[in-house]
Amino acid sequence: MINKTITKVTTHVLQEMKLKGEKIAMLTAYDYSMGLILDQSGIDVILVGDSASNVMAGHKTTLPITLNEMIYHASSVVRGVTRALVVVDLPFGTYQGNSKEALNSAIRIMKESGAGAVKMEGGMEIKESVERILTAGIPVMGHLGLMPQSIHKFGTFVVRATEDKEADKLIEDAILLEKIGCFAIVLEKIPAKLGRIVTEKIKIPTIGIGAGQNADGQVLVTHDMLGITQEFSPRFLRRYHNLYEEIKGAVSCYIDDVKSSDFPNDKEQY
Ligand code: KIV
Repeated sequence: MINKTITKVTTHVLQEMKLKGEKIAMLTAYDYSMGLILDQSGIDVILVGDSASNVMAGHKTTLPITLNEMIYHASSVVRGVTRALVVVDLPFGTYQGNSKEALNSAIRIMKESGAGAVKMEGGMEIKESVERILTAGIPVMGHLGLMPQSIHKFGTFVVRATEDKEADKLIEDAILLEKIGCFAIVLEKIPAKLGRIVTEKIKIPTIGIGAGQNADGQVLVTHDMLGITQEFSPRFLRRYHNLYEEIKGAVSCYIDDVKSSDFPNDKEQY
């Protein structure tokens, strides 16, 4: 149910939601129109994900998308949003190298898009960059588990942290991200049991995507949950619509109407 008492979602609101046990609903958007629809539907958080690289640009991975492209998507979304917190992914290669570059990337996103926070993939490895960004007053959402920007290191999109060593590191990283000041953490494609352990161990909200029902919130890629994308079908994905077929059907009708001169009719012209 939508919480109508919240007029603007902030990082503090998300913290209170965790305390009250109220689940956080997050979805992705990359453009003004989708941002507007999601916001007016009452979504809590809109993620301008670097999944735009796949969904919008047709790349196989999230690696090619640039900072300028993310800023373009983010500023378009922000123009349609009044209530939701807009979080923007720092794209691959704009924060891993050194913390000064990371800070500059985050500042550009905040200044040029008007978003409310950034998201970064990784734990201990990116500690310095996260700290420096936080020092500038920019809220940071962490991202652990399957980290698509590291797909060439992982070599596969299978469930992460099924072995103790990786699970222990993930727990340590989550505690570290909380300690240095992140306001929430996305947990992607990890065992539900581990999702629960992390969620219970830290006080900041966890947002799961394939991390089980105990996470404090859930996120899906909007194009996947609406069934616009077809090829991607992981177990965690619940499809709420088959827009691919619906759009195809509507487009076929339009083509038929144009070809048969049924469109435009008398009332549809001047
Ligand atoms: O880029 C993205 O859409 C994401 C979500 C899958 C969490 O990071």
